[in-house]
Amino acid sequence: MCGIVGYIGSKKTKEILLDGLGELEYRGYDSAGIAVLQNNNFSVYKAVGKLVNLQEKAHDFEPKGFAVGIGHTRWATHGKPTELNAHPHLGESSYVVHNGIIENYAQLKRELQNEGVNFLSQTDTEVIVWLFEKELRGSASAFEAFSKTISQLHGAFAVLLVTKSEDETIFFAKQGSPMILGRDEEGEKHFASSDTPLIGKCSEVIYLEDGDFGFVKPNEIMLLDKGGNKKIPHFSKLSTNKLSAQKNGYRFFMEKEIYEQSDVITDTLLGRLSDSEIIFEELDPTLFDGINEIKLCACGTSYHSALTASYLIERYAKTRVSVEIASEFRYKEPLLCKDTLFVAISQSGETADTLETLKMAKVAGLKTLVICNVDNSSMVRLADASILTRAGIEKGVASTKAFATQVAVFWMLSLYIAKLKNSLTCKQIEDQIALLREIPRAVEIPNGLHEKITRLSKRYLHGHGFFFIGRDVFFPLALEGALKLKEISYLHAEGYPSGEMKHGPIALADPELFTIALLPQHILYEKSKSNVEELSARDSTICAISPIEFDKADDYIQTSSAHHYMIEFFEMMVVLQLLSLEIAVRLGNDVDMPRNLAKSVTVE
Ligand code: AGP
Repeated sequence: MCGIVGYIGSKKTKEILLDGLGELEYRGYDSAGIAVLQNNNFSVYKAVGKLVNLQEKAHDFEPKGFAVGIGHTRWATHGKPTELNAHPHLGESSYVVHNGIIENYAQLKRELQNEGVNFLSQTDTEVIVWLFEKELRGSASAFEAFSKTISQLHGAFAVLLVTKSEDETIFFAKQGSPMILGRDEEGEKHFASSDTPLIGKCSEVIYLEDGDFGFVKPNEIMLLDKGGNKKIPHFSKLSTNKLSAQKNGYRFFMEKEIYEQSDVITDTLLGRLSDSEIIFEELDPTLFDGINEIKLCACGTSYHSALTASYLIERYAKTRVSVEIASEFRYKEPLLCKDTLFVAISQSGETADTLETLKMAKVAGLKTLVICNVDNSSMVRLADASILTRAGIEKGVASTKAFATQVAVFWMLSLYIAKLKNSLTCKQIEDQIALLREIPRAVEIPNGLHEKITRLSKRYLHGHGFFFIGRDVFFPLALEGALKLKEISYLHAEGYPSGEMKHGPIALADPELFTIALLPQHILYEKSKSNVEELSARDSTICAISPIEFDKADDYIQTSSAHHYMIEFFEMMVVLQLLSLEIAVRLGNDVDMPRNLAKSVTVE
């Protein structure tokens, strides 16, 4: 989730841009840059790593008077976090910053290269500015060239472009990624990809809509819709509370991150799904040559996504999978064979136990892959290959969107390997890809669901414990639901395979034992249902989560009648996240910073 800022006016342009980027730090990034156009000259500064590096580079730069400026914090999606890949990107006499992913960039890049363009970066963004320069040569105005450029881009993009050919103008476009236009008391215009950089500077804003594009000049705003029809700019009042703005009005970062799962999974999938195959540009298919086993290793929630992956990879890629808890794996003197691909899974990429197991695999000569959410993390730098989950920074200690994006990546990876191993037909892969495209909708929260869970949560504030139970991939989901509850409510909860309850745990069944039962329609429903009936017969208090009404439950949360168990998985995941959130809220706990926990466990 990158960050964008822009400004046109006569105040302290550099400070406005850098302060704005500083307000976007919470979104996470691995490089940053600014470009300021004044008196038809560009001053550009870029840096890898933290914003302070950029501030140091631009320390002596102090533009005075009217200027046009754009800035960007980058969360690497295409190409490593390097200065060359940092935005803004230069054409001949123009600079651009961009959020999102240009899905057709490879084709556009080839066409431009065939016309002699030499690209400096590995990014999709650079295509935008070179396409603009090309169109500029054949257009009556810079805006005509900008309009032609935008019309050729597919995918998600929030773009700001400045050019010497019109040096008192910022061109903008919004499609899929957020962009806000703000106006301050003096009527000067500001841009940002979220409202926090604008708070305290602007009194009113326009939340641009998909398809909006246009330009701003000192005394003019040209706003058009995707049909090219002029729109009257309607400004609305801007909130004044930065922290609530960072939370986008939610009570907690965890709550915000549950609600943004649809958007971030859209990012996770972007550029990786064609109609017939999975595309991981960051992977060399030879990584899987000679591989007969895949070993997944992680901690906590990441371990739960690894367990989920084990079902998918064995089922679809017909490849043996073993799953390890990193803190155990480190000391068990494991047998490691070179035909095993070692995969570490980590949101932070810094978890000490997982990092150490990755080092063990490297020492043993295994090929290594990391599924991670932070591009320049220790694990990503160490592994042979990495796949980024693109969840954006996760501030809530209790992981939500990171888990969701890890499972989405693993579902894609199982199909990617299935293609390499011909373990699924083309039709089967196409059908699965169509299902993958449904995930963003599956994790949206239907009207009334959150309110129902909030009401229902009051019944689960005591008792002598919870069992979360499920079968197949719903067993690791049950583990994850139990962990979420433990982490933020401090109530005891266990995840268990439904079929295991009769092998001992059912001895605990009584009205004070709460069972959260996952009953998906499309996998082992009857088996799961009979397990829950055994508990109900012993008077356990049961909350059933299912598309099918379950008359023996004390509480019932209905999910949609999705037509595949993995869509049910994502729907039920959201229910479990919200349930743990609302129970913790009722108990008055600090949801974002639970006691005894850290976001990244970088010690043993
Ligand atoms: C998840 O809610 C917890 N915060 C914790 O279990 C976490 O998943 C675990 O510490 C692993 O962290 P990582 O994914 O950054 O490696």
